[in-house]
Amino acid sequence: MTKILFVCLGNICRSPMAEAVMKKLAAERGLSAEFEIASAGTSDEERGNGVYPPAARKLREKGVEVPRRGAVRMTAADYAHYDLLIGMEERNLAAMRRIAGGDPAGKICRLLDYTDRPGDVADPWYTGDFETAYGDILRGCGDLLDYLTK
Ligand code: 4NP
Repeated sequence: MTKILFVCLGNICRSPMAEAVMKKLAAERGLSAEFEIASAGTSDEERGNGVYPPAARKLREKGVEVPRRGAVRMTAADYAHYDLLIGMEERNLAAMRRIAGGDPAGKICRLLDYTDRPGDVADPWYTGDFETAYGDILRGCGDLLDYLTK
């Protein structure tokens, strides 16, 4: 069992999208039982709020089930519980390390660093471009799953 926490700033756009996409990819490969997959934010701003409607619409458009849980903030206990804590962008990693008190076990990484095009997942918050964010997330989750299962 590999436990994965996807992390962004608010936990209403990119990390719940990654949670949903990763669950779908794992299910398609018959691997759901091998993974615990969840998401959180580094900020408290959106606590309790559902997935941002344009992000939810994009998931539905792609045939991906929308997570139903309200936004939560990442905790130090999450760092102990999960095997991998995967941020969407560099800025997330710094905040995640602050919450966790560093990264002594080397569990914190960035989603697209599992791909051949390392970088930040496009932030749709100001651009409204959820298609590009979805594409980044799909590529990252696919390569992450390949990495974990080969
Ligand atoms: P997320 O998107 O980090 O992908 O959930 C954002 C959500 C809220 C804000 C920024 C990004 N915000 O500035 O409130």
